[in-house]
Amino acid sequence: MSGDEKTKVVIIGAGIFGMSTALWMLESGKYEITMLDKCGILPAPDAASTDLNKIVRSADYADPALAGLALDAVSHWKKPEWEGTYHESGVLALSADDQPEGLAFVESAYKNCLDLGLDAQLIPNVTAIKSLPPLQVPTGSFGGRRGYFNPIGGWAEAGRAVEVGLKRVRQMGGTIRAGAEVTGLIKDGKKVLGVALKNGEELRGDLVVVAAGAWTPALFASPGVAARLPPIVATGQSVATLQLTPEEVEQYKDIPVVFNLDDGYYIFPPNPTGLVKMAIHGAGFINPQEEINGVSVPRTKLTPGAEDGAIPKVMLEKIKKGLSEVYPELRKKDFVMTRLCWYCDTVTGDWLIDYHPDYTNLVLATGGSGHAFKFAPNIGREILKVIEHRGSPEYKDRWAFDAPKAMVEPKEEKGDVSADGPQTTDAGADVRAGQRKLLVLDELITAQDLIAAV
Ligand SMILES: *[C@@H]1O[C@H](CO)[C@@H](O)[C@H](O)[C@H]1NC(C)=O
Repeated sequence: MSGDEKTKVVIIGAGIFGMSTALWMLESGKYEITMLDKCGILPAPDAASTDLNKIVRSADYADPALAGLALDAVSHWKKPEWEGTYHESGVLALSADDQPEGLAFVESAYKNCLDLGLDAQLIPNVTAIKSLPPLQVPTGSFGGRRGYFNPIGGWAEAGRAVEVGLKRVRQMGGTIRAGAEVTGLIKDGKKVLGVALKNGEELRGDLVVVAAGAWTPALFASPGVAARLPPIVATGQSVATLQLTPEEVEQYKDIPVVFNLDDGYYIFPPNPTGLVKMAIHGAGFINPQEEINGVSVPRTKLTPGAEDGAIPKVMLEKIKKGLSEVYPELRKKDFVMTRLCWYCDTVTGDWLIDYHPDYTNLVLATGGSGHAFKFAPNIGREILKVIEHRGSPEYKDRWAFDAPKAMVEPKEEKGDVSADGPQTTDAGADVRAGQRKLLVLDELITAQDLIAAV
């Protein structure tokens, strides 16, 4: 390759990891980008990143490195290029006293906020929660929780942010192809020459970046790709939505994001159309498919038979409990929508950003583990560093394909671990509630369950 020739990059997946990588590569001027996504519509309606909103925590991590990286992401979110998709509502982080993991996370995160110079406020009891200025709406018991309020941070209009980012990829000269499903890798020994598409087309490149989110495990298990898979798994997370009236929007418009770090319940302020999303940040559900050796595959609204977005009954119960504890008045409303949102989970909750050990020019940028969206503006910078072999040393082992054994072994075995191996609940990068379970179709909600009285 001559000096002024650009490196041709094929990026599989047009979500957060792929988009952010493309943006930072294009900015550097050294790369020619083709992004491929199997979905015919972009942003892909069933991607984890295509959503009403996602929490943007600033510094609200137990881990100081991630706290710093998240605060840096917030400074990017505020730039005009993100077109006002970020909303600084503040984040209320809570845990019950008798939940040691949640409480430890909240206490470390609070300390990191202070260390990074944020004006976070300790909230030692429910009376103090109720007297927070942005929470002057009818509130519940908060389950007796305590924690802190961080005025910096909030949420982003997730789907629109991806749209804005992809638009900028195109403006900077990147090519984005929707409906381009990769079915194989063209390999020559340890080198990947390009990818094969479902329509028979072959696309060559100097570098292939796999950023296929929750579809990454299935892609690697497919016969055409057949590459060694690191320990990542697609897990379904339960989301539910309410529609507020214009009067309710007026009443609730200033509420912060409320996030329980123990049972994983979280709820947003109303979005621009008055929708309020809530969910459980949990261990999630797996959907293993026999044809590909039991690899878990997302079951989304684009999956035939799953168009209703039904979530497990047990999860809707948890969501209803969480809502009653936070905003009991809103519990009187029917839910308008539910959805399984599919994470790509690693064992430790750290992302997977590394070269594939069996190939010289195949990179994985995935394993968001349910907490990467907020890094959409800056994660590509970190991915590019890894690609250019100048990755931050503090992340080297954490983001590695073969993470050191000591990091991936669960600290303690608990609950139903038989379903699929290690648990992520006490992982270092983030905290998640409960144990991973099998998605059982008979145990999903029906339309009747969305009605408030049930
Ligand atoms: C709750 O916390 C506040 C500090 O924000 C304190 O003044 C108050 O005494 C506490 N109330 C109880 C019942 O502990």
